[in-house]
Amino acid sequence: MLIIETSFRSSNGAYLANFIAEKYPSARRIRLADMVFSGCRACKQCKGAGADLCVIDDDLSPIMASLLQEKQIVLIAPNYMGFMAGEAKLFIDRLYCMRDSAKKSRFAEGTKLAFFLTQGSGNRASGELCLGWLKSVCEHHMIKFYGHTIANCAEGNNDGVRIKQEEIAMNLGFFF
Ligand SMILES: Cc1cc2nc3c(=O)[nH]c(=O)nc-3n(C[C@H](O)[C@H](O)[C@H](O)COP(=O)(O)O)c2cc1C
Repeated sequence: MLIIETSFRSSNGAYLANFIAEKYPSARRIRLADMVFSGCRACKQCKGAGADLCVIDDDLSPIMASLLQEKQIVLIAPNYMGFMAGEAKLFIDRLYCMRDSAKKSRFAEGTKLAFFLTQGSGNRASGELCLGWLKSVCEHHMIKFYGHTIANCAEGNNDGVRIKQEEIAMNLGFFF
């Protein structure tokens, strides 16, 4: 399992990443906020005959390579302005290279992505745009998707995640 966390602070997202890592002790973890990387630059060198993964050489490069084998991916991102925080979107954009020139997915068969959107609002419906979008991205890449908006994630405490953590653990268990 690879747990990808986005938050910039010790936060609801970090709490959730720690919680999931306790349940899956062999999981690898990365924190996008600690990494220097760019989004897709549309060079298209990942397409065409004999093309390989993204040619951008930055902190995401080893992660992209590891995604070829990683069958369980957890992405955690805060809701910023009604969508996933920018760093998470840049990461998703870089998945452009995960389809080859024949439009075949480079992800291993059976790969699954579980996504958690932590947000301040108590209205879970405000995460639907983001969840619906990521679901269609996953369908495009032939990977299975589970998405959950975690509402009431206030600054300074983790109660919004804490009251949902057992439900999250159960749903993750079913999904993975
Ligand atoms: C730049 C910015 C934009 C935000 N926009 C939204 C928003 O559109 N909807 C919302 O519910 N919360 C919004 N929030 C609140 C965060 O989603 C909330 O603080 C959440 O707990 C962040 O997750 P974290 O605790 O894992 O960092 C925003 C916060 C920031 C800093």
